[in-house]
Amino acid sequence: MNQKFQLKGLQGFMFGKIKFYEKKSNDVSIEFENGRASVDIITPSIINFFSPLYTERRASKAVENLKRMPGKITVDFIDGQVLVYTEKLKVSITDNFMVDIFDLNGKRICSDYRGEDKPFVRRGNDDDGNIAAEEGHQLEEERKSQKIKILKQLNPGSYFYGLGDRTGHLNKLGYHYKMWNTDNPNPHVESFETMYKSIPFFVALEKKTAYGIFFDNSYETVFDFGKENSNYYSFSAVDGNLDYYFIYGPSAKEVIFGYTLLTGTTPLPQLWTLGYQQSRWSYAPEKRLQEIANNFRKKDIPCDVLYLDIDYMDGYRVFTWDQQKFPNHEKMLDRLKGQGYKIVTIIDPGVKKDKGYSIYDQGLKNNYFATDRDGIPYVNRVWPGKALYPDFSNQAVRHWWAENQKILVNHGVAGVWNDMNEPASFDGPLPDDVQFNNDGRLTDHREIHNVYGHYMSKATYEGIKTATNKRPFVITRASYAGTQKYATVWTGDNQSLWEHLRMSLPMLMNLGISGFAFCGTDVGGFGFDCTPELLSRWVQVGAFTALFRNHSSASMRDQEPWAFDEKTESINRKYIKLRYRLLPYFYDIMHDEETTGLPMIRPLLLDYQNDENVYGINDEFMSGSNILVAPVVEQGKTARMVYLPKGNRWIDYWTKAVFDGGQYIVKNAPLDVCPIYVKEGGIIPMYPAQNYVGEKKISQLTLDIYPFTGKGESCYEHYQDDGESFDYRSGSYNLYDFILKRSGNLIEINISKTREAYGEKYQSFKFIINGIKPLEFLVDGQTGKIENDDDQFSFTVSNTAKKIDLKF
Ligand code: GLC
Repeated sequence: MNQKFQLKGLQGFMFGKIKFYEKKSNDVSIEFENGRASVDIITPSIINFFSPLYTERRASKAVENLKRMPGKITVDFIDGQVLVYTEKLKVSITDNFMVDIFDLNGKRICSDYRGEDKPFVRRGNDDDGNIAAEEGHQLEEERKSQKIKILKQLNPGSYFYGLGDRTGHLNKLGYHYKMWNTDNPNPHVESFETMYKSIPFFVALEKKTAYGIFFDNSYETVFDFGKENSNYYSFSAVDGNLDYYFIYGPSAKEVIFGYTLLTGTTPLPQLWTLGYQQSRWSYAPEKRLQEIANNFRKKDIPCDVLYLDIDYMDGYRVFTWDQQKFPNHEKMLDRLKGQGYKIVTIIDPGVKKDKGYSIYDQGLKNNYFATDRDGIPYVNRVWPGKALYPDFSNQAVRHWWAENQKILVNHGVAGVWNDMNEPASFDGPLPDDVQFNNDGRLTDHREIHNVYGHYMSKATYEGIKTATNKRPFVITRASYAGTQKYATVWTGDNQSLWEHLRMSLPMLMNLGISGFAFCGTDVGGFGFDCTPELLSRWVQVGAFTALFRNHSSASMRDQEPWAFDEKTESINRKYIKLRYRLLPYFYDIMHDEETTGLPMIRPLLLDYQNDENVYGINDEFMSGSNILVAPVVEQGKTARMVYLPKGNRWIDYWTKAVFDGGQYIVKNAPLDVCPIYVKEGGIIPMYPAQNYVGEKKISQLTLDIYPFTGKGESCYEHYQDDGESFDYRSGSYNLYDFILKRSGNLIEINISKTREAYGEKYQSFKFIINGIKPLEFLVDGQTGKIENDDDQFSFTVSNTAKKIDLKF
């Protein structure tokens, strides 16, 4: 049934009156005069609304192995409403499949809009054509006709977040976006409607209550947050099913938890992937790569990962090596491994049309490429010239691609970078009717386009996992909802522009809200030439983003940490070293994230939802829940305003000065200072600086302690494992709880090992106590020694210590 339905307001297609409803185990199906729908209770807070406008069942590419925990459900029919009660929500469905959702106190949370679907009038068009367009001004493209359009009531004081890494600001109210994965080489600007990714999920925040909507439709979809009409917001699709999930908070954190319950969280990565990464289009030949590798070590700048961009391949043929530039790549990979480097190679989807090239021959023979309507493999042009597109929507093709990963990883490649997988095409866009297998239910490009990169990453992830039995490192440019299960992402081809550094913060924060905990930007900017000041400020941001990768385009000036002057080099060194010292903190966040879905770089509203002042803050973020970063993102600025959220005091990381929350302060920030604040009561685990992960055996964990300035208690859980294998999933890890209490001038720290199942334990703990001068220090009742290094007080205890008392 592929009818042209239009489900909008009181116009167009209408479901009509409710004829009957039926409760099955966890779902309620409703028959209307003109169609069928179901309300499926996934959990008491997550409800799926579905109508089979395209396929009988949900055709999701994002939701795998959905586990339902619906809890107790009751259903009633009163006054023409089907009422569904969960343990958290009351859902009312009335004629025309109108949905209203309330909490159990009767507070309305989200309602379908009953008024007219009435976009604002775009004036200026007349019968003679459009003068502005004729003059060459770019105008917003006319909307394609939407088969499905859902309107929801928009109330004053609403905020919207998510949709992946859209350009512009954190709050999406008043804007309009399209989901159609796009490789647009122009500098990213606020008015871009599309980007490389399509993540049709957003969080709405109204009167301190948050909920989310995930519109699981891989066709081109449009999200409009009150731009076309300030009375409603809407989401629409050109085809596919009506299939969306309502995810109740009331906290935004719970919404993210719910969303990642559906689409998956980012699995805990290998520890080295959180180290510094250096890329360039391209480090070739081998001599240049080796020079870069040596330079990091010589200059005492930590680095774990080096990238090989497209020039390592033989004529851009994927899974090959250029024998001239890299005559003995296995030996080279081995040597670099010895220096502590992990090498990541790029793999694009486009397979060169070239008889005799094994990947092409195999693909052709097995019908692994997308075809035209007549079954002839579809050809477009990318880096290798004429190229074919593997049909990753076919399980057999994913399997083949997964097997191909061995060609790289069996010889020592540590991770794979998937690029150009929107998919990009130099000879115009792929036509709508390019055919895809879609795991047996044949379909066309319109349904697969937005999930092409998703499937490619999935195949890559699975291939590396099977071949190495370690946590795979895959990085992808294009993605759909759920790709976070397989790959880390970056925001694509930004430029060395201050505006792009500024914009990277809301982009990364919205990616984090959208389930992508492991993300980053090209530090220093990809296109255009970087400047020393810009690189310094960008590295300060990069040091706190999960993916910390400096990358730049061919023919741009060098932008490695030493590429400018000594001052820039030393600022870069300082922040890259800080990153390495903070690695256990970041690793803890990623471990926690695997269960909660909460990202490493977070908008302030996630931790401070009660403080409305933070709802629109674009240029500050939380790194985990203990550190607030307020980077300088404007050229020439050496001071900035910082808003410190309400609810706790804050300690300046550099000066140790204490500030009340709920105020703006001005922070002096010369080029080598990135304003960083630690939450009062914060405990930050640290490692010694290393050149690369694994260089030193870490037998001591440092805990950087920021005691409460008054009475208070906090707890920090630290996680430890082997940093690379999946053994943690069968229980091989350690957990430590550090509980910090202050009353009067006594501080108590309790250490408890809540799990000890991984063999390599710490021998000792070193505590740095900030902001106070301890007079006396007892470990399990015995007096201990306090070190004083330039007024920084610290002490070390053995790993058997349980209780520490400090008097000051
Ligand atoms: C694309 C990628 C970029 C890469 C280049 C060459 O533009 O986004 O990161 O360097 O292709 O492979």
